[in-house]
Amino acid sequence: MSSLFVTGTDTEVGKTRISVALIELLQQQGQNVACMKPVASGCEQTTHGLRNDDAVTLIAQADVQIGYKTVNPYAFEPAIAPHIAAQQVGISIDLNHIKDLFQQISLQADSVIVEGAGGWLVPLNDKQTMADLAIELSLPIVLVVDVRLGCINHALLTVSAIEQSGLVLKGWVANKRIKNNQAEHIINTLQHVIAAPCIGIVPVLERQQSAVEFLKIEMLVK
Ligand SMILES: Nc1ncnc2c1ncn2[C@@H]1O[C@H](COP(=O)(O)OP(=O)(O)O)[C@@H](O)[C@H]1O
Ligand SMILES: [Mg+2]
Repeated sequence: MSSLFVTGTDTEVGKTRISVALIELLQQQGQNVACMKPVASGCEQTTHGLRNDDAVTLIAQADVQIGYKTVNPYAFEPAIAPHIAAQQVGISIDLNHIKDLFQQISLQADSVIVEGAGGWLVPLNDKQTMADLAIELSLPIVLVVDVRLGCINHALLTVSAIEQSGLVLKGWVANKRIKNNQAEHIINTLQHVIAAPCIGIVPVLERQQSAVEFLKIEMLVK
């Protein structure tokens, strides 16, 4: 299995965009790839129930067709912190339930790309965070860094917390969501201060453009 847990330096940094590209990258290796977006807020009410754009996007790229509620068991309507959204509807996010679903999905795929929500230490319930979920799933981590002012601090804090969790940081992606004339300097610095490999430097993309051509499979498999 080459399953991965995708986290980011913040919310809206490119986790979904990079997760889709990681699915494509593994597909190019001949793998059957499944996805999971276990916890999502900011969902839309549809005739089938609550639906989250990230989960829908990941499902559209994945090979293995799995029921929506298995891919995204915790879907909340307001675009707020998941543990608060859960509290408001009287639900407690159960990491064991997510782990059971992850194991079911794993049985049907060569690998599973799991997208977190927000950043690494986003709370999920009274006691646990997204980091605890990654630990529960025991997955190698890919960190998406939004290349902008302040990201070096965010990246280093996240890398340090990932190290503390005991999980493997498989690599990180420099994601240039918007033009920044200091980007090259920022990325050079990140390459010096993060021991894990840079899996790719993704430029500002067109709306429909995939990031896959900017990701290096050899950085993931080594
Ligand atoms: N490299 C990129 N170039 C252009 N737009 C990007 C890039 N990466 C992400 N985006 C855009 O930025 C927004 C946030 O990205 P997304 O992948 O949804 O972040 P997250 O999953 O971390 O919340 C989306 O509109 C996405 O299309
Ligand atoms: Mg996302």
